[in-house]
Amino acid sequence: MKAFIFDLDGVIVFTDKFHYQAWKKMADNMGIYFDETINNRLRGVSRAESLEIILEKYDGTLSDEKKAELMEEKNNTYRELLKTMDPEDVTDAVRNTLKKLREAGYKLAIGSSSKNAKFILERVGLLDAFDAISDGTNITRSKPDPEVFVKAGELLGIEASKCVVVEDAYAGIDAAKAAGMEAVGIGDASGYDKADYKIQTLEELPGIVENLSESCKIEDSQN
Ligand code: BG6
Ligand code: MG
Repeated sequence: MKAFIFDLDGVIVFTDKFHYQAWKKMADNMGIYFDETINNRLRGVSRAESLEIILEKYDGTLSDEKKAELMEEKNNTYRELLKTMDPEDVTDAVRNTLKKLREAGYKLAIGSSSKNAKFILERVGLLDAFDAISDGTNITRSKPDPEVFVKAGELLGIEASKCVVVEDAYAGIDAAKAAGMEAVGIGDASGYDKADYKIQTLEELPGIVENLSESCKIEDSQN
């Protein structure tokens, strides 16, 4: 068996704008400067590490209790925004690509830092599209640590050298390489030289299958 492991935010669904709006609301309430450039640094990074990045602009120190409160406030706003999502938020390109890869014989997994991954997949009707879900609820270290992808491989029962990761974050590409997996960069990460392959849209993915290393390739996968 061979597998594709997909990051969720920025690859399968586009929740960046909701993360931004939710962190922005929290930052505004605290009088902390926050903009889209800072938001870009939060891609692939855990909730707690995201808060630390935002607090670089905060003059002072906060207790762990206050930080937990701020993260909860942000997550509550974020989940309210996620509730507006439905199956229409998944593009045809995403649905068709997942279908094609499954038909070609690949196992499919999610490898996401988010603790909301299952909630999002349920909202957009993609829970059944994956054979395994490794997310922020089953890891202790965030990307660029390889843990989330190693766990995804374990859940699928497929060794790392037979797994291909699809990622939009630099930290995610680093995590995939540290896990001993091949890495496809999409979106922001399509400009990252550590990505083994670079694509602009997910529809290009079945097309690169024939270029994968032998260990990741399934014969007749183009059929
Ligand atoms: C990642 C996002 O998928 O999940 C990050 O790219 C986010 O921006 C992280 O911080 C954690 O998400 P959540 O839903 O657990 O707060
Ligand atoms: Mg992402």
